[in-house]
Amino acid sequence: MSGIEIERRLPEDFFAAALRDDVLKGLTAEPKWLPPKWFYDARGSELFEEITRLPEYYPTRAEREILATRAAEIAAVTRAETLAELGSGSSTKTTLLLDALRDAGTLRRYDPIDVSEAALLASGEQLQKRYPELTIHAVVTDFEERLAIPESAGARLVVFLGGTIGNLLPEERSVFLARLRAGLRPGEWLLLGTDLVKDPETLVAAYDDAAGVTAEFNKNVLTVVDRELDADFDPDDFDHVALWDPAAEWIEMRLRARRDLSVRLKELDLGVSFERGEELRTEISAKFRREGVARELDAAGFAVRHWWTDEQARFGLSLAEAV
Ligand code: AVJ
Repeated sequence: MSGIEIERRLPEDFFAAALRDDVLKGLTAEPKWLPPKWFYDARGSELFEEITRLPEYYPTRAEREILATRAAEIAAVTRAETLAELGSGSSTKTTLLLDALRDAGTLRRYDPIDVSEAALLASGEQLQKRYPELTIHAVVTDFEERLAIPESAGARLVVFLGGTIGNLLPEERSVFLARLRAGLRPGEWLLLGTDLVKDPETLVAAYDDAAGVTAEFNKNVLTVVDRELDADFDPDDFDHVALWDPAAEWIEMRLRARRDLSVRLKELDLGVSFERGEELRTEISAKFRREGVARELDAAGFAVRHWWTDEQARFGLSLAEAV
């Protein structure tokens, strides 16, 4: 049977409740912070798509280059029946893998897993047209409490692309990878994309582009908070900041207050003030080294069988087996 099935694992009030919790916690903390998942409303998702086309933002192109070169090998090694994708990624990357698995003759199912039902439906419908025989089982869930890879009789290949694992802190990454491993049988597979440590100029430029798209993306989180929590942030009161932390080996995005100001969040009955120059942290994007990725995967119960990079060694793709 083909067709799109949707499995909903999120409680009805998930978004409202999680945003309230995160904003209350983050804006009353010292230093202030907001988690990056709140960038991605419709406008934020559009801005991220625009970022992936910027000359400075190399990760998307670098990863696509690796997939284009290695998809057939990935299909031959994994012989996966089900491709389970965390985050309903850009369809070009997904089709490279689906084409290769179909050509290898093993593909039966595609299980995209995402928090956005709209994104799942949009990409699911596109893919159903291209692969009429494919069973598409979409799962609406978060990657924290409710992460579970759907059961499948044949071998599963879980893919987590884009370097999004870099949004997690090291402790969060180990919990996440261990949960992922717990949902797989030995002999099943994980394909993990990780952006790599490189010169700070290249890294910072990728997060502070000349056209200002990343600045707009960063400030979009304030628009989301204004709309959802009846707040009065003015995005123009903040400057976009992207900096490289050489000790932690991650990029940090922040919003720096241009003046002393206070904000009212009516939905939370909360007032928050910023001093001029005070910074609100909005994202970490960790960069990796080959040994570090292998160590973290190993600790979670995966063995790296293949490690590939693009020609310029900017981005890494690990193919790891559950052991
Ligand atoms: C979607 C998390 C992989 O960290 O590079 C792009 C998000 N932030 N520009 C990244 C992002 C600023 C992106 N990920």
